[in-house]
Amino acid sequence: MSLFAKKPLDQLLAQAADSEKGLKRTLGAGNLIALGIGAIIGAGLFVRTAAAAGQAAGPAVTISFIIAAIGCAFAGLCYAEFASMIPIAGSAYAYSYVTMGELIAWIIGWALIMEYALGAATVSIAWSEYLNKLLGGAIPYEWCHSPFEQFTDSNGVVHQGIMNAPALIILLLLTMLLIKGTQESALVNMIIVFIKVAIVLIFIAVGWQFIKPENHTPYMIPQGTAPVLDAAGKEIVNYDGFFKHGWGGVLGGAAIVFFAFIGFDAVSTAAQEAKNPKRDMPIGILGSLAVCTVLYILFGHVLTGVANWQEFVDPEKGREASVAYTISEYMKGYEWLATGVTVAILAGFSSVILVMLMGQSRIFYTMSNDGLIPKAFGELHPKFKTPYKSNWILFVFVGLFAAFVPGHVAGDLTSFGTLLAFVLVSLGVWLLRRKSPNIERPFKTPLVPIVPILGALICTGMIVAIDTTTLKAAFMWMLLGLLVYFLYSKKNSKLRNPSEILPHASDFESKK
Ligand code: ALA
Repeated sequence: MSLFAKKPLDQLLAQAADSEKGLKRTLGAGNLIALGIGAIIGAGLFVRTAAAAGQAAGPAVTISFIIAAIGCAFAGLCYAEFASMIPIAGSAYAYSYVTMGELIAWIIGWALIMEYALGAATVSIAWSEYLNKLLGGAIPYEWCHSPFEQFTDSNGVVHQGIMNAPALIILLLLTMLLIKGTQESALVNMIIVFIKVAIVLIFIAVGWQFIKPENHTPYMIPQGTAPVLDAAGKEIVNYDGFFKHGWGGVLGGAAIVFFAFIGFDAVSTAAQEAKNPKRDMPIGILGSLAVCTVLYILFGHVLTGVANWQEFVDPEKGREASVAYTISEYMKGYEWLATGVTVAILAGFSSVILVMLMGQSRIFYTMSNDGLIPKAFGELHPKFKTPYKSNWILFVFVGLFAAFVPGHVAGDLTSFGTLLAFVLVSLGVWLLRRKSPNIERPFKTPLVPIVPILGALICTGMIVAIDTTTLKAAFMWMLLGLLVYFLYSKKNSKLRNPSEILPHASDFESKK
């Protein structure tokens, strides 16, 4: 059988319909939008907005948000078509199994581990940093850093990291919540989303009164802007390059803030738990993307209006805790809001981790049902009906990263995995339209093939812009994936071993 053998669509749908054995359908449209917002608003908004404004776009970071959102919307429209048509856990992996065959599906499943598992690890490390900030640095350095990090204090004492314990603790708590149940997790997510959206709205409403029009003039970084130096005279950033000022800078800013949009696709991993996936999947994916885009533009407008973008250049000064810095420096009388923002960030990070872990376990669930990874990943808890073994294995894998690896290593890999999935999903929609034009499509991507082609092109452009070290690491990861495929998955694939295949949809109906 060819490496590009495709899984028949009716077989996939039969698998999804087998709800007796499968995941429970408990999520409505509101839950799905909240799931999207839960995964989307996090470090990207609270940390990268200032970085993009200070390094590339100036106040026009609002336009950067619009450009990144347009890129995501093309991919989002394609995800919506697939998720309404193939309402099965597994997202891009499952769609590519039908459209592009097993090997490509495996590659995309393997790349999605970068997006979801490494994404969860990265954000749990950031969570640990912010918790320590909130506690005024009470956690000893050794116990909140990886063994690869060290720091010399003012007395000349060298502190060597041992493990990142808070990152491990938040992962453990969220894993336990996920095992307890999808509905329970969705409820906690809904509460967190409420808190973080409320804080973002309060910041926008209060900050609006403190906007100084001169901070928005000029709106883009002018050509010839002098480089910024640190206290020792070392250059932190210069504005000469194409992606550093003017419209080019706005594009450079879009690549930086792209991370802030990662997560809307996670809605599609829950397709098998949606009550009415045909209607609610597109609402969940496109609705969460739309809500976040509006919030991001307003947030960027206020942030760069209250503080000048040049204050966000120096990491020591305004960039890292940009929002808290802006409030305490320029919004006198609202210092309490700075603490609120830190709490919202912690809450926000928790929901990003929660949805990422959930998405990953659902992708593993589907890959395991297909025989490409061991059975344990697909076993459901007898009472809670959640893939509990997969959740525990994932906790160990993500936990090892979170406890022992520095945070920056995983960040860009997350973007790579996501973008690769976006490209393949966009192309997949176009391919399936040509191959099987008559399948029922409850939601149709408009203007095919223009939208899928633009989606694939924009995302490929963003992959090319990723730095070479990350691309090399991603390449190594993908090679490892191929090794696993040829040594294990190809031999155990159920598609290659038809006796184990589930009945076709038609058989399934007649047996009911
Ligand atoms: N979009 C998510 C965040 O910004 C990954 O944290």
